[in-house]
Amino acid sequence: MRIGILTSGGDCPGINATIRGVCKSAINHYGMEVVGIRSGFQGLLTGEAEPLTEKELSGLLNLGGTILGTSREKPFKKGGIVADSNKPALMERNIQQMGLDCVVCIGGNGTQKTAAKMAAMGLNIVSVPKTIDNDIWGTDFSFGFDSAVNIATDAIDRLHSTASAHKRVMVIEVMGHKAGWIALYSGMAGGGDVILVPEIPYDIHRIGDTILQRLKKGKPYSIVVVAEGIQTLDGKRAAEYIAQEIEYETGIETRETVLGYIQRGGSPTPFDRNLATRMGGHAAELVASGQFGRMVALKGNDITSVPLADVAGKLKLVTEQHDLVVQGRRMGVCFG
Ligand code: F6P
Repeated sequence: MRIGILTSGGDCPGINATIRGVCKSAINHYGMEVVGIRSGFQGLLTGEAEPLTEKELSGLLNLGGTILGTSREKPFKKGGIVADSNKPALMERNIQQMGLDCVVCIGGNGTQKTAAKMAAMGLNIVSVPKTIDNDIWGTDFSFGFDSAVNIATDAIDRLHSTASAHKRVMVIEVMGHKAGWIALYSGMAGGGDVILVPEIPYDIHRIGDTILQRLKKGKPYSIVVVAEGIQTLDGKRAAEYIAQEIEYETGIETRETVLGYIQRGGSPTPFDRNLATRMGGHAAELVASGQFGRMVALKGNDITSVPLADVAGKLKLVTEQHDLVVQGRRMGVCFG
């Protein structure tokens, strides 16, 4: 078999480890040929692709970014980077011309949606979930999340000492537009006193009270972890708005930090490298056994797969019943 592989959407640590996992098992174990498609779905539209051999697959395990490049081209939507009136048909023609028996798509929610539509057209598609946001439905975790949580937790750890030295409130904004998984996991791992996620509405007076109560108990500093996607008034960035409101409510000097793209760059953690390797291997197995139209998934400790049609258009969100929220509340963490 000859398979194509592409990476689409925002990058994250572990993509290259996944490419390595898919391609090495496809080549070594299943005797397949592999073609790397450049810049996500854009490469399927322009035909930009080259064969991947053992040589190109070296040194990928700990490498951040993606050797194939990525884009946010959405071939089923109007507009986009490539101009063509019928992009789905163009992709189908290019897949045929490249002689591909299947395309493995590595990406986030947008990619899963596109992959599901391609599968519905009758194309042979297998996908792998990738996002630091951990919000893809159907998998317990996606690779990239653990790396982002590690980076965010390290940043929170560092804020503790400076917050304590100056008796300040420190607000840190982490990624997550719709889902607050990074805020929840890094906030709890970093001992945040207030954790705000887009899924749980907050009351600024309650946040102020939490911080003042801490002061009364002899704790003159507080750490506030906010997801970028929480609601703010007057269109301000999450951290800026919350810091300003906390200072107003409590009178305590408050500073903000926006962590930004640092969360997406660099080397994956060992957990993510192994998750990416296992998921990549499973993608190759799905291709070899002709199980198309499926997304690789982690359920508990097992790697399995779910139908792409079930994944598309859904989001996996934080709930108030999540055990980290329940346990955090029991310990006095304010979730808003
Ligand atoms: O999907 C991952 C993510 O990192 C979000 O948390 C973030 O808001 C978004 O990508 C930003 O990505 P870009 O600026 O590349 O569109």
